Amino acid sequence: QAGVFTYDPGYTSTASCDSTITFIDGDKGELLHRGYPIDQLASKSHYLEVCYLLLYGELPSATELEVFENTITRHTMIHEQMHNFFRGFRRDAHPMATMVGVVGAMSAFYHDSTDINNPHQREVASHRLIAKMPTIAAMAYKYSIGQPFVYPRNDLDYAANFLHMCFAVPAEEYVVDPILARAMDRIFTLHADHEQNASTSTVRLASSSGANPFACIAAGIACLWGPAHGGANQACLEMLKEIGTPDRIPEFLARAKDKNDPFRLMGFGHRVYKNFDPRAKVMKQSADEVLDLMGIENNPTLQVAKDLEAAALADDYFVDKKLFPNVDFYSGIILEAMGFPTSMFTPIFAISRTVGWISQWKEMLGDPQNKIGRPRQLYLGPTQRDYVDIENR
Ligand code: SDX
Repeated sequence: QAGVFTYDPGYTSTASCDSTITFIDGDKGELLHRGYPIDQLASKSHYLEVCYLLLYGELPSATELEVFENTITRHTMIHEQMHNFFRGFRRDAHPMATMVGVVGAMSAFYHDSTDINNPHQREVASHRLIAKMPTIAAMAYKYSIGQPFVYPRNDLDYAANFLHMCFAVPAEEYVVDPILARAMDRIFTLHADHEQNASTSTVRLASSSGANPFACIAAGIACLWGPAHGGANQACLEMLKEIGTPDRIPEFLARAKDKNDPFRLMGFGHRVYKNFDPRAKVMKQSADEVLDLMGIENNPTLQVAKDLEAAALADDYFVDKKLFPNVDFYSGIILEAMGFPTSMFTPIFAISRTVGWISQWKEMLGDPQNKIGRPRQLYLGPTQRDYVDIENR
């Protein structure tokens, strides 16, 4: 069929499903969303337009985009009673724990969008999740630092609104820098969907039981938290802080090469990309813009990041194994420069990936044959044997 891509990874891949949303060619370092290359979307489009593309399969007309953006904007507030959920957590709770809890609890408030067999309710649930995730993440951040919640504003675009909810305080006006807003929008755009990664597969599997959308997205958030997946940007920055100074970089590169050392270079490598992650190329541009704006001379962590990037790219071991900086390496640098604590990195990834999870959820619900079935196993345990009473053991 014209336009149908086949990708032979060179091994019998056990595809979990078929999909028309995102195509990845790991060897060539290609990523397409509904056929559009990620570098074109990142440079010419913006997050909510990419959300529309992922959800509905086509780029919107000007009118369609205006209606969609107005709909999202008008769902950004959460039910006032949900504010109480945050106060049930310890102040030092990881924001991902808060997000898993609060997003799961949405099913207790938005009963009119939990029937997955009702297309209108599916639409409303989709819009509510995309709109409210930044609000919930920002509230988790504000709660963790003991500052008052900042309500969303309808006069700000999606990325600027999130930055305002995170960094504004009642005592003074907070003006969002357009370079930071653009970098944040690019982080959202570049993390929006990524085929059948672990958290997306989790959402698909949870949805296959008929669970409501809020519970399924909460399951995806829980899976994304892991350091090998969405938690990598936090783990990467914590690694950079542990390295501390550029002179310790060779020590950590040697550990990453040592097969007897479980240490891995966080922010490097990828399960699928055996070339440069195409998202990382674009994210690197934004990282350079933000570092120029914010300066790194006063931030030793960012200096280590730049030197580690150069050292790894010049090291034959990492080049030969194609362990290049991935999207999480550069997004972590940007978020550190913006002033976010590392604990907020994965919640920001979760904001972005919500549209990918929802798009894949809707696709699966639209084609019952496309459900991830009940996985089976290869049983390697004992063959049948009889019970032995304890006095005879
Ligand atoms: C994300 O799936 C997705 O799409 C995920 C994601 C998304 O958008 O949803 O792209 C987001 O999760 C990006 C990846 C973020 N994770 C990290 O940055 C954590 C650090 N990276 C590693 O944990 C690792 O690279 C993985 C888990 C990402 C991939 O591991 P693989 O599948 O083992 O990688 P590989 O097969 O290419 O490894 C080749 C070799 C192996 O050694 P050998 O067995 O050949 O001797 O390289 C080694 C690996 O042990 N290796 C590393 C390494 N990554 C792989 N050695 C040191 N440091 C690393 N980071």
